[in-house]
Amino acid sequence: MTYELIQVETQDRVGVLTLNRPDALNALNAQLVRELGEAAQAFDQDPEIGCILVTGMEKAFAAGADIKEMKDKTYEQVFAEDFITDDWEVLAKLRTPVVAAVSGFALGGGCEVAMMCDLIIAGDSAKFGQPEIKLGTIPGAGGTQRLTRAVGKAKAMELCLTGRMMDAEEAERAGLVAKVVPAADLQTEAMKTAGAIAGMSLPIAQRCKEAVNIAFETTLNEGVRFERRTFHSTFATHDRSEGMDAFVNKRKPDWQHR
Ligand code: CAA
Repeated sequence: MTYELIQVETQDRVGVLTLNRPDALNALNAQLVRELGEAAQAFDQDPEIGCILVTGMEKAFAAGADIKEMKDKTYEQVFAEDFITDDWEVLAKLRTPVVAAVSGFALGGGCEVAMMCDLIIAGDSAKFGQPEIKLGTIPGAGGTQRLTRAVGKAKAMELCLTGRMMDAEEAERAGLVAKVVPAADLQTEAMKTAGAIAGMSLPIAQRCKEAVNIAFETTLNEGVRFERRTFHSTFATHDRSEGMDAFVNKRKPDWQHR
């Protein structure tokens, strides 16, 4: 498969997807979103890939949905297309863990795509925001929901209602990003994290991710019950026996991903 607006590469067991539309600061037009979804799904179905890393360029992870593509759409059109389309949600539905490495602007749809990933590592130049209100609209790819779950109502309201940007340090304090690193080291540091995840047993990492995500969907009781049953299911895998045997025998586990 060839792509125009993203770059796709594999490093060990990490599948790297780089948004590559520099003239428009990686503004997310329909083609870019479709390519990103297709490539991410291909990695998700590849048993040789244990983690997907989504990144952009130094100046921008992505400056949002493509305003030029969107500006003349009518209400009838957006309703008929169900714009923002399901292509956007593909990243949020993957089973393989997904790390976002964010440098520069992650605004509007760019922030929303980063939040669809399982964790965000930010370069110290990163700027997050939901500036849609300044365009006379509101976030349309989950921003009001995922940002609120990540940083709480007060800060999410302030960010969505003023459209201001939040820098990397503030985003880390607020719980939106897992870690801030010098921008120059972002790719190396993000690859270390993605590589560590990819070095785990994939079916166990998938179960772990699903259990954490359930915390956003259900009550504590149901979430704990789901976790318990999922924990039990790890005992049906080869890799659970291998991991514990390796610990007891003081050796490195040899994951079979089953
Ligand atoms: N859509 C389309 N084009 C965009 C874009 C976007 N979201 N963001 C930047 N660009 C384009 C600019 O139009 C410009 O193109 P030209 O050279 O052809 O004029 C190019 O990228 C470079 O951008 P700037 O000259 O504006 O760069 P800057 O450094 O001066 O400013 C910026 C950077 C602050 C990020 C500014 O570009 C900006 O404010 N962008 C828009 C951010 C935004 O509002 N995002 C939300 C979009 S709506 C949305 O995402 C809805 C949703 O929920 C899905």
